[in-house]
This record gives sequence, C-alpha cells and structure tokens, in this order.
Amino acid sequence: MPSASMSGWTKNKRKRKRNMKNNLPEIDVVFDADTIAKRIETLAAEIADKLPEDLLIVVVLRGSFVFAADLLRALDRAGMRPRVDFITLSSYGTRTESSGTVELTRDISEDVKGRSVMIVDDILDSGRTLAFATDLMTARGADSVHTCVLLDKHEKREVSIEADYVGFPVDDLFVVGYGIDMAHLFRSLPFIGVVRQD
Ligand code: IMP
Ligand code: MG
Repeated sequence: MPSASMSGWTKNKRKRKRNMKNNLPEIDVVFDADTIAKRIETLAAEIADKLPEDLLIVVVLRGSFVFAADLLRALDRAGMRPRVDFITLSSYGTRTESSGTVELTRDISEDVKGRSVMIVDDILDSGRTLAFATDLMTARGADSVHTCVLLDKHEKREVSIEADYVGFPVDDLFVVGYGIDMAHLFRSLPFIGVVRQD
C-alpha cells in the first residue's frame, strides 16, 4: 500500500477512536466475562445431561450469536455435538421497547420435522419471541422443542412461557453487550452491562 494512503488510513483510525471515546456513554457491568463463561459451562453440562445427542440448535439472531457460539463450544466440551441453524426474529427495531409483534426476517434452512430442537435466545422478556419460535418449530412437526436463554427478565412476561435453561435472571433493565445491542450498538462488548442514564 502506498505510504500516502496508509497515513490517511492511520489518521482516520485515530479519529474514529477519538470519536468513539467521546460519544460512548458509560456502561455499568452487570455480568462480567468470567461470570458468563462459568455459568455457560454449567448450563452446557446440564443440557448435555438431559437433551438427546442429535439435537438441532436454532439460534435466534441477532442478539444471541455470541452466547450461542460460547454455548456450542461448551456443549462440545460436555460431549455433545449438536447441529446448528439460525433464524432472525425482530420485535424491537431500533427502539428499547418491544413493538409487540414478532417478525420473521430470515428463516432456518433445516427441516425440523421429527427432530429434537433447542431454541437459543439472548433474553426472555415479554416472551413473545420465544413463544413465536417455539410455536413455529412445533407447527413444523418438531418432535420436541426445548428453550435456552442467557437472561430471563421474569418480571416482564406478557405471554405465559418459561425457558427450560436460563443463564441468569435479571431485573427489568435494558442491557447491552455480549452480542446484545441497543440500536445495533454495543454488541462487541465482552461483558453484559447497562447504559448509565446520568
Ligand atoms: P420478548 O419477545 O419481549 O421476550 O423479547 C425478547 C427479545 O427482545 C430478545 O431476543 C432481545 O433481542 C430483545 N431484548 C429484550 N430485552 C432487551 C434488552 O434489555 N436489551 C437488548 N435487547 C433486548
Ligand atoms: Mg433477540
């Protein structure tokens, strides 16, 4: 690469860094990386103990991609080699309150008929997303449908549904990080936190 464009690139990178530093609000840690990792290891052992070997994991994008990646590798360590597919469901858009309707924006490609399925999502909140995914897999003839979420906002339920496997219960806070976003920001944080409001 010629040196002139290299220096331009370096300058832009510095500028970007400065902007990020200035614009990013402060985030209070709720679950640090180590706490999350330890909990996932226990969760994976529990899942491997109870669910069948030929499990198909359906990951609900986008919020749960980091959790699912870590859970899958923990499941492998626990002796389980599940298959994986992805579904994209949306109810928030760029807001921090659910719109109340779940939209299927990208479907799985696997046929779930007769399969043991476990749906993995980041947060169980009103329950609409998980209920939508569970009903969809059941309607398509899945033999069994289990559910696993990293965070359970138990106070906020509007649909009667509980997850079979829960990482952590949380209070009604809008959390970010570890794949979870606020208006598409903060997914890359290695921990889960809340945006400071002051
Ligand atoms: P539910 O359909 O109301 O249960 O909402 C579940 C979905 O809303 C999750 O898959 C998340 O993507 C999103 N969500 C719920 N609470 C939060 C939050 O605190 N931060 C970011 N996304 C959230
Ligand atoms: Mg989600």
